[in-house]
Amino acid sequence: MHDIKDLGLAKEGLERIKWSEKNMPVLRMIRARFKDEKTLENIRIGACLHVTTETANLMRTLQAGGADVRLCASNPLSTQDDVAASLVKDFDIDVYSINGEDNKTYYAHIDSVLEFNPNITIDDGCDLVSTLHSKYPEKCKDVIGGGEETTTGVIRLHSMFKDGALKYPIIAVNDAKTKHFFDNRYGTGQSTVDGIIRATDILFAGSTVVVAGYGWCGRGFAMRAKGMGANVIITEVDHLKAIEAVLDGFRVMKMIDAAPLGDLFVTLTGDINVIDIPHIEKMKNGAIVCNSGHFDVEINLKEMNKFCENKKKVRKFVKEYEIFGKSIYILAEGRLINLAAANGHPPLVMDMSFANHALVIEYFVKKFKNGEKLPVNVSPVPEEIDNHIAKLKLESMNIEIDKLTEEQEKYLSSWTLGT
Ligand SMILES: NC(=O)c1ccc[n+]([C@@H]2O[C@H](COP(=O)([O-])OP(=O)(O)OC[C@H]3O[C@@H](n4cnc5c(N)ncnc54)[C@H](O)[C@@H]3O)[C@@H](O)[C@H]2O)c1
Repeated sequence: MHDIKDLGLAKEGLERIKWSEKNMPVLRMIRARFKDEKTLENIRIGACLHVTTETANLMRTLQAGGADVRLCASNPLSTQDDVAASLVKDFDIDVYSINGEDNKTYYAHIDSVLEFNPNITIDDGCDLVSTLHSKYPEKCKDVIGGGEETTTGVIRLHSMFKDGALKYPIIAVNDAKTKHFFDNRYGTGQSTVDGIIRATDILFAGSTVVVAGYGWCGRGFAMRAKGMGANVIITEVDHLKAIEAVLDGFRVMKMIDAAPLGDLFVTLTGDINVIDIPHIEKMKNGAIVCNSGHFDVEINLKEMNKFCENKKKVRKFVKEYEIFGKSIYILAEGRLINLAAANGHPPLVMDMSFANHALVIEYFVKKFKNGEKLPVNVSPVPEEIDNHIAKLKLESMNIEIDKLTEEQEKYLSSWTLGT
């Protein structure tokens, strides 16, 4: 079963899935093992992820382990329709996602995944899990665990737990070191630049780029924008992150002060209305504004729609707002620019993020099959999984590192040895 754009796109999708696979060595190793061990047999996995080539390779890995998998999109604009087609046609995986779907269809697709009564959820932003808990609470009893892919989803899940609403154990895959150190920083850094360039053809060198948020994603993007010759300004609300940005060589100021200076504004905060009407009022004519945080709430488009005199699409992914006597350009309707206008993170990075999901699912299933009950909370990825993925990644790169000698291990764990 499926609801996708066009099965005829499968050939191109398959070629691109295979290309990604070449750059996902850790997931390949896990897939080979899963295929032999079949630990995931009789397990239904409901996934809500960006439907990209990398996600396709995660779905194939879970399927190789014996799981039954159903997939929908975690963002209405991020689906790669050719990948969805290939997953259905070539891999017999049920997919419900169409690039550009409206909000109603987006949630109907989430419903289709939940109708399948998953035993495991994989989410990116917590829309699947929150819909499951609010609309189908009775189905939670069949769920043994879930993994969450992104910072915003983890924040929402912690709130669910605090409110006493969470009904099954969640592992915060985002918080694994082998996830956010690399995916959020290098993945978002590169792909956000890619999305902006594909959408606009702007030259970064010499332009003033205002980056809201100096967390993992913000750092990654700021580093790449600086590397391309932009004058980067950081805005933050956290004192420590702000100092870090200053010592990394960036100008740091309030958004209201950065507003008149920027040629390009990029939000990567996970917060709401980070760019609001007072900022838009102060911006230069021709300023470009976009978001790479999870939800389309970082730019206050609702208010902009009220104030703007005219609005028109001037090229794919670029909308011109005539507002306060000038033109402001909004990219990809304020949705994740790296996934809307480009292909999201490179597979070499997603290799580690998705290896975490695969091994976390195996962990849940093994515990379940052994009759062990995990506490209902939001917990970190077990350290041994994180370290194992780092080890496999280095091995796949043919990089060897030193090992502590017995003497060094003893020294590092002792308090008696001083000068
Ligand atoms: N585009 C992608 O592919 C992608 C990838 C990973 C994560 N994300 C999303 O990006 C967002 C950021 O993720 P992260 O891992 O960098 O989180 P993070 O918590 O490491 O960083 C967020 C930063 O934003 C700052 N911030 C919050 N409100 C702010 C405001 N009003 N003004 C300025 N700064 C503010 C915080 O202090 C923090 O330093 C989340 O929504 C996450 O889900 C997107």
